[in-house]
Amino acid sequence: MAVSDYLEADPFNDMPLDAEDIDLLVNRAEVKARLSALLDSAGKGYPQNISILGEDGIGKTSLINFAEAKARLVPDLFTSRLDVTERTENRTVVRALLSDLLNQIELGLGNRLLGLLSLGPEVTQREFLKRLQGTQVTTTRQLELSDSLFQLFHLSHSVSETRSSPEDLFQLLEMLKETLTLMRRKPKAILILFDEGQYVAQSQSLHLLQQMRLLFQRRPYMLLVAGSADLFARYAAVEPSFNNLFPEQNRLRLTALEDDHIRELLTKRLAPVRKKGKGIEPFQQGCVERLTALSEGNPRYVIRIASASLHLGRDRQAITPVMLEEAWRQIVQEIGRDRFDKLSDDEREMILILARYQPLNISQIHVNLKSAVDLSTVSRRIAALADKGYLTIETQGKQKLSRLRRAIYQYAKSLL
Ligand SMILES: Nc1ncnc2c1ncn2[C@@H]1O[C@H](COP(=O)(O)OP(=O)(O)O)[C@@H](O)[C@H]1O
Ligand SMILES: [Mg+2]
Repeated sequence: MAVSDYLEADPFNDMPLDAEDIDLLVNRAEVKARLSALLDSAGKGYPQNISILGEDGIGKTSLINFAEAKARLVPDLFTSRLDVTERTENRTVVRALLSDLLNQIELGLGNRLLGLLSLGPEVTQREFLKRLQGTQVTTTRQLELSDSLFQLFHLSHSVSETRSSPEDLFQLLEMLKETLTLMRRKPKAILILFDEGQYVAQSQSLHLLQQMRLLFQRRPYMLLVAGSADLFARYAAVEPSFNNLFPEQNRLRLTALEDDHIRELLTKRLAPVRKKGKGIEPFQQGCVERLTALSEGNPRYVIRIASASLHLGRDRQAITPVMLEEAWRQIVQEIGRDRFDKLSDDEREMILILARYQPLNISQIHVNLKSAVDLSTVSRRIAALADKGYLTIETQGKQKLSRLRRAIYQYAKSLL
């Protein structure tokens, strides 16, 4: 089988994994088991807040997908997933939550009622009643329920971007809980999944979490948040109580992949697409070690380098370590740029200083900065960049030296 034969099926497609493909994940058995156990105990009435932490590309969204699918199988555990972008408003979040939870009571119920929201505050209770007809709700309950939903929706209209307080939001969700009870569905726990995703949305997600903080202090609500490793440092700065709500054992940190994991990743991805061969073919001996070094254990980079190498070697019979190097050189600029673009101006300034003079200690970075910030701020920002996977901090004698990770270094150097 020639390399080109593998290309058609695109074995190294880079997407967060869906629940059906979750077996493609390597080195995450422990995290999955822990998530499952936490969700099972939530379903029995013991909700706990959970976080999944790690740099970009390490597998957070895939694991959120896994948790969501798993949670849907747990009876009496209700879920809602919030996808946050820069423009997400409180009101949008509230509506999404309402409709998600109502849809779990009866398929389509949330959507049906949500239509009424767009009609504005003039909607009458009668209209709610009308929409409940034809649902599984019994006639006697319809009246009660329309009353409760009517109030709920009016309250949700008053949640506005500028004025709403955490209390408003909380009151609304308390009412929602009661509405669920009215429908004879008493959730043991309500899981809110929150994928911080791109760094550009961070200030928005911070704001949202602050707004929702009362939720994560009271049953039956629980939060599963995925974000970069400095999430707790950032949230603690605006909301000191936040860290206490996440016990250390519920902070699931995703670690880099090693040789054996990467071998397994290649094997799993290749198996379904080929007609002949075995193991990691068409990758030759030495490829796994080279991939580990080039990717620095980041699964997204493993996948992207592997994919680029298949294209590069399409006319060959096999992929060699040297070809992996070449593939890496081709895509490193783009990977570096993607990562650089997610940073703030202050962070970029430090990255560029490191690209020029690295390795440097904190005071050396500090004297090179044009902006006037104190040493402890520089130290905090460097620690955050390390958490996000932009640099490593190595100890040499008494010194702590920062050094950029490969892709970001290559790209930043090209900007000098
Ligand atoms: N542990 C893993 N094993 C195999 N593939 C992984 C693993 N973690 C992530 N991936 C792959 O890496 C890419 C990034 O995963 P994703 O879940 O989007 O990460 P994140 O949300 O942390 O950026 C995807 O292509 C995914 O399939
Ligand atoms: Mg993600």
